[in-house]
Amino acid sequence: MKYKIRQEQEGDEAAIVDVIARAFAGKSYADEGDATLVDRLREAGGLILSLVATQGKEIVGQVALSAARVGDGKYLCVGPLAVAPHQQRKGIGSDLMGHALGIAQAYGRDGVVLQGDLHYYSRFGFKVFDTVTYDGDGAEYIQLIPFEDTPTGAVVFHRVFSE
Ligand SMILES: CC(C)(COP(=O)(O)OP(=O)(O)OC[C@H]1O[C@@H](n2cnc3c(N)ncnc32)[C@H](O)[C@@H]1OP(=O)(O)O)[C@@H](O)C(=O)NCCC(=O)NCCS
Repeated sequence: MKYKIRQEQEGDEAAIVDVIARAFAGKSYADEGDATLVDRLREAGGLILSLVATQGKEIVGQVALSAARVGDGKYLCVGPLAVAPHQQRKGIGSDLMGHALGIAQAYGRDGVVLQGDLHYYSRFGFKVFDTVTYDGDGAEYIQLIPFEDTPTGAVVFHRVFSE
């Protein structure tokens, strides 16, 4: 069955937690707070965009955007990005990312930033910049797509990412 991508709507909350939990289950880089990140961003008023991929009534994937800073630059953080295990490797993650990047570009920020696997995200144009610092774990996994100038300075994600 073909999937569809749409904005989250009221009533999707539990299914979003569930799809993230299932996608990250057992991953070495997973954190116990991953599943509730979208919930916590929403509650903190920090959720700028939340897209879901659906197959029938089932939510099989999700991606979120929240505000971030890179030095003086206003960025958007992409993440979490998650696809249900039984639906992975069918292009859903790439499609969710493509939609999120298109919306991010239209949003009028200076670029997008995330922390994640270097091989996976390079396909979308994400790059590591030695002009950018990150005062947290996994600084080597911080990648950006600047829309204008070369990014410079420290990356700061929404506070819920470090709570
Ligand atoms: C990462 C993820 C969102 C990709 O979704 P997907 O729908 O399977 O992705 P696509 O079908 O668009 O792309 C599949 C490609 O991604 C690669 N890929 C999938 N998960 C990957 C991972 N964790 N690390 C590196 N590459 C990965 C596959 O090898 C495949 O590569 P190929 O095209 O060269 O064979 C999904 O695998 C997932 O939810 N993983 C667990 C959660 C996670 O790691 N999220 C990202 C960190 S925020």
